[in-house]
Amino acid sequence: AAASSGEETPDGGEGGAAEDALAPASGDEPRDAPAVGPPRPPPPGVKTEGVAVGPRRPPPSGDGATGDGGGNPRTVSASDAEEVDVTTLPIPEQRRRLPVYAARSEVLSAVRENAVVVVVGETGSGKTTQIAQYLYEDGWTAVTAAAGGGGRRRGGGDGTGAAGTAAAAAGDVGPASKQHDHLLIGITQPRRVAAVSVAARVAEEMSTPLGGTVGYAIRFEERTSPGTALKFMTDGILLRESVSDPDLSAYAVVIMDEAHERSLATDVLFGVLRRALAARADLRVIITSATLEAGKFATFFGGAPVLRIPGRSFPVDIFHARTPAGDYVDAAVWQALQVHLQAPLPGDILIFLTGAEDVEVACDELRTRLERLDTAPPAVVLPVYAALPAEAQARIFAPPPPGTRRLIVATNIAETSLTLNGVVYVIDSGYCKLKAHSARLGMDALLLCPTSQSSADQRAGRAGRTAPGKAYRLYTQAAYEDEMLPAAVPEIQRTNLSHVVLLLLSLGVDDVLSFPLLDPPRKEDVAGALWSLWSLRAVSDAGRLTARGRLLSSFPLEPAAAAVLVAAADLGCADEALTVVAMLSVPSVFLRPHGREAPADAARARFAVPDSDHLTLLHVYDRWRAAGGDRGWAADHYLNERGLRKAADVRSQLADVYRAAGLPAGRPASAAAGAMGDPSGRLRRAVAAAYFGNAARVVGRGRYVHMRTGVECGLHPSSALVAAAAVADYVVFHELVWTSREWMSVVSEVEGGWLAEVAPELYEVRTARGVRPLAVGGGRGVVAPPRAAPPAPARVEEAGRGGA
Ligand code: CDP
Ligand code: MG
Repeated sequence: AAASSGEETPDGGEGGAAEDALAPASGDEPRDAPAVGPPRPPPPGVKTEGVAVGPRRPPPSGDGATGDGGGNPRTVSASDAEEVDVTTLPIPEQRRRLPVYAARSEVLSAVRENAVVVVVGETGSGKTTQIAQYLYEDGWTAVTAAAGGGGRRRGGGDGTGAAGTAAAAAGDVGPASKQHDHLLIGITQPRRVAAVSVAARVAEEMSTPLGGTVGYAIRFEERTSPGTALKFMTDGILLRESVSDPDLSAYAVVIMDEAHERSLATDVLFGVLRRALAARADLRVIITSATLEAGKFATFFGGAPVLRIPGRSFPVDIFHARTPAGDYVDAAVWQALQVHLQAPLPGDILIFLTGAEDVEVACDELRTRLERLDTAPPAVVLPVYAALPAEAQARIFAPPPPGTRRLIVATNIAETSLTLNGVVYVIDSGYCKLKAHSARLGMDALLLCPTSQSSADQRAGRAGRTAPGKAYRLYTQAAYEDEMLPAAVPEIQRTNLSHVVLLLLSLGVDDVLSFPLLDPPRKEDVAGALWSLWSLRAVSDAGRLTARGRLLSSFPLEPAAAAVLVAAADLGCADEALTVVAMLSVPSVFLRPHGREAPADAARARFAVPDSDHLTLLHVYDRWRAAGGDRGWAADHYLNERGLRKAADVRSQLADVYRAAGLPAGRPASAAAGAMGDPSGRLRRAVAAAYFGNAARVVGRGRYVHMRTGVECGLHPSSALVAAAAVADYVVFHELVWTSREWMSVVSEVEGGWLAEVAPELYEVRTARGVRPLAVGGGRGVVAPPRAAPPAPARVEEAGRGGA
């Protein structure tokens, strides 16, 4: 499986994992459900109904819910809710009703007067969808150059929208070239889904087609045109743009939205913006946050003003579990059904779980259980996570049929990124998936972590947007108080920095540690990143960017994935490698529908190339292409047609970058190519040349240890190697997925000798018994220059594989 992990944090997975520019090729979501479920604790003991500790904000009238301590909060009837369902109102009226509307002129004058403004407002107050429109209406995108005025017209319109209309007209009839005749308002989001969905919403509000005045750009997908004036994008996209345009000269205003998420790209953009502001007096920056960490942002920009948008939220009663929930998915399903059966309509239920996998499991379970309940009120079950296909995402914002309750099961994407209307009940598992560096594994892993108090409060707050609500926490109050961190650790302090360090180097920042950052990364993480870039020959012994490093940074890929392409160029298998890297950049194309696992697994097994999951991906793609667009072919083979089409699209974009970089298209001279082995060997060699850090050695039947750390890691059950007749002595894997244990995901057999050849600083061939890793620890903690302190190499047993 291209099983990869994703997550729900801005870091790349819905993961988070750094989106876009920062995303590892693996992208955003757990792309494939491991056959083995997440380690869920034993079945729940005592359910959560119980002790009321809320409301955190006392109800407007009334005695609070803490009263009897026995768990009888003040009940709020749905009639306390707003009488009108706002979504049925005309859009201009909806816009006027948003809390941010009252602050419109204040926001506009603050932006006129200050280079940087921080805006704080609760989720749903209209920050994301409205502020950019206000600026547009105020004339911030207009440039008078083309019209003969020379120079830029700065904000200062009267706010009636006249300037905006002019800009719109100019934009909509703009030149066919990509050259804008106006400036852009850029709005960054840590999450891809949010960038797309808010762009669609704003286009709708402005009655323009998406991709016209309002567009979006996320990694491998752009919908903009010369007329685009409001550009929604992931923070990773803007960060990449800053490499070729450090002053961000295409932008009049940059809105850093959801800054409280503290994604890796957001944090680095802060530094980039500070430098751009020093160079451009006309640039404006707005930072929005749903939390009070805002003061820190303001200080970073030399004391920027902080505007607070008065909230309009209703009290939320918070219930904690009396005892910790066992299996949080079971507990959440049980709690949701209780609420659904007992609470009056209307009032949707929002359930926070951790990733695509547990969201789908919970949705299945809810649907099954609801079918068995004759007396239950009508309900629709909706999953919400980053890798969800577009139609499914659209359903989240469509109003439900009247008299129906929505049971929305979401990852932390629904915490602040997406505003869901109509939610009155929240069920919080207390967990999220975070990509974090594991010292034990010596690499990033997707870990199931307790959320922070700040996230828990955000989650609870989702219940009080349109009416008084209730939040059920599946964890104890003691867990909240004693075990949760006040705020999540920023991504920059917990993940692999090699992508960011490479970007900074290509931005001309030689001393990465001196780059202005809100929270500096750990020195050893920077050193580790430099070390891994050095081992990819992307930086020199002196820690400077090499020509090869610049080449790697031109791909919108993690450095190692780009290195596969560069190695493939030398080995004459670029066509194949482009396909494999593209397939690894999209969610897994293998479908495994609930209840049809066996036929799906059998279908997948028929594509298996026994010694390589990478080649299996290639095989799947090639077969799909050969089927020539036969509708139904993909479905018949349990493959996701949309995913395959996406892979084809990504592939062609990567091929463009590849060609633009001047890399050779054809095969190398035949003699040389022959010496490099069969096509399969060449491709596996290209993978080894980039992912040598992820090498494992067999230690028993089906058991492997990671060579640099000695950590035991299994073949992911979906791997083609599981069923292979011959045991591979050495493998490299694309990534490690952690569920109940460490699984290598997307694995290929390699020859031990290749490892020593491509990374002699890491592996050496022993004459008698083969190759060994030269060191345990793989360079983390080694301070540059790398050569000064080479990590002790690891040894690879040669075991007669005939390599090297
Ligand atoms: O950014 P913030 O959380 O402050 O609010 P927003 O995302 O701008 O949302 C303002 C309003 O627009 C909310 O009522 C949302 O439900 C609505 N909205 C929508 O209907 N569809 C979207 N795709 C995004 C927002
Ligand atoms: Mg927002």
